[in-house]
Amino acid sequence: MIATGISAISFYTPHRYIGLETLAEHHGIDPEKFSKGIGQEKIAMPGHDEDIVTMAAEAAKPIIDRYGADGIDTVLFATETGIDQSKSAGIYVHQLLGLPANCRNVELKQACYSATPALQMACSYVARKPDRKVLVIASDVARYDLDSSGEATQGAGAVAMLVTANPTVLEIGANSGVFTEDIMDFWRPNDRRTPLFDGKYSTLRYLNAMTEAWKDYQANGGHAYDTFSHFCYHLPFSRMGEKAHGRLAKANKTPIDMDKALSGMAYNRVVGNSYTASIYLSLMSTLENTEGDLTGNMIGLFSYGSGATGEFFDAKVVEGYADHLFTKRHQDILSERVSVSYDEYVALWNAPNVVDGTSEPLAEEARGRYRLARIDENKRIYIDQHA
Ligand code: HMG
Repeated sequence: MIATGISAISFYTPHRYIGLETLAEHHGIDPEKFSKGIGQEKIAMPGHDEDIVTMAAEAAKPIIDRYGADGIDTVLFATETGIDQSKSAGIYVHQLLGLPANCRNVELKQACYSATPALQMACSYVARKPDRKVLVIASDVARYDLDSSGEATQGAGAVAMLVTANPTVLEIGANSGVFTEDIMDFWRPNDRRTPLFDGKYSTLRYLNAMTEAWKDYQANGGHAYDTFSHFCYHLPFSRMGEKAHGRLAKANKTPIDMDKALSGMAYNRVVGNSYTASIYLSLMSTLENTEGDLTGNMIGLFSYGSGATGEFFDAKVVEGYADHLFTKRHQDILSERVSVSYDEYVALWNAPNVVDGTSEPLAEEARGRYRLARIDENKRIYIDQHA
């Protein structure tokens, strides 16, 4: 069977964040509830002229610059926070990046999970057409109501992955374990910007979905627990990953080896929840924050999307993978960010919601190359500031 998987992986997150100690101070609660209790430090905050499209284009651009667009004939855009009920956000990105016109483009939805079926479908496709490449993009703005229990678990970010035959970074295994159940743990009706959720229940269903997906993975010829040097989890907040890893180790009657999951939490702790992008941010965090050469190592991944579907699958690190990472760029993106005050955070949170067909120019806030310049008669106008 032909090897398929990821040949490049890159992320982007906006240049502003609110520190969770600022949020704790505003609410008059112990900051350790956030730093230790939920294991988060910062919430990435997009400007009013940044959204899932601009973040996605920023994430994918370095891949196109380094590898070109030749052979890319499919864009799969995964998101929970779509900006249109009909048109795929990927079409705007396709235009911004100058991808070939002979390209298919589609958006996928299942809460935080949909980048994983996108990756699996992309692998199946390039196995059939090894001369083609697929751009898989996951991009989300995780926004909860102010003063709600989910407020500290907000965030924003995008991950772009180039999926090819004979991959140069990670070979995605053909075996996976899946689980679906119809539950109301987190959902967002069409007329709402923020989700409805049952927080504690959602954490319990997440853990159950992981256990069931792991069992299915084992039943389908998956690797044994001890095979894996690292594990990556969907991370709505990093303590969730710690709980998941503890549960998995226990299910396998193994002492809890948290080191196998910690390097995969470094980026997520300072970005916050990025929904569909979250598990792939964790994957990048593992590759870029683990000391030593990971060549040949096996990574186990658990992807979860409320509602709910979970999938456990595996990836093998390919020799020479480090040459295809964007580690320095990612470290710069994170280190060059600035913090905002509580009042600035509220102003950013209250993004204009133009639904009446009027024209709304948006203040120039984005530091990246791409921005949403205005919404004009219900049309979103994106610009490339370098064009
Ligand atoms: P909460 O009510 O804010 O917090 O809810 P809590 O009171 O349960 O405290 C959290 C932890 O902090 C507890 O530890 C406390 O003991 C500890 P635990 O019992 O969990 O071990 N704590 C402290 N620790 C140190 N010092 C202190 C202190 N005080 C308390 N002073 C909750 C937390 C996660 C429920 C909330 O943030 C929430 O509702 N978040 C949104 C929903 C969510 O993220 N669910 C996760 C699973 S579902 C999922 O992952 C899918 C999702 O990403 C969406 C999608 O699929 O699209 C959400």
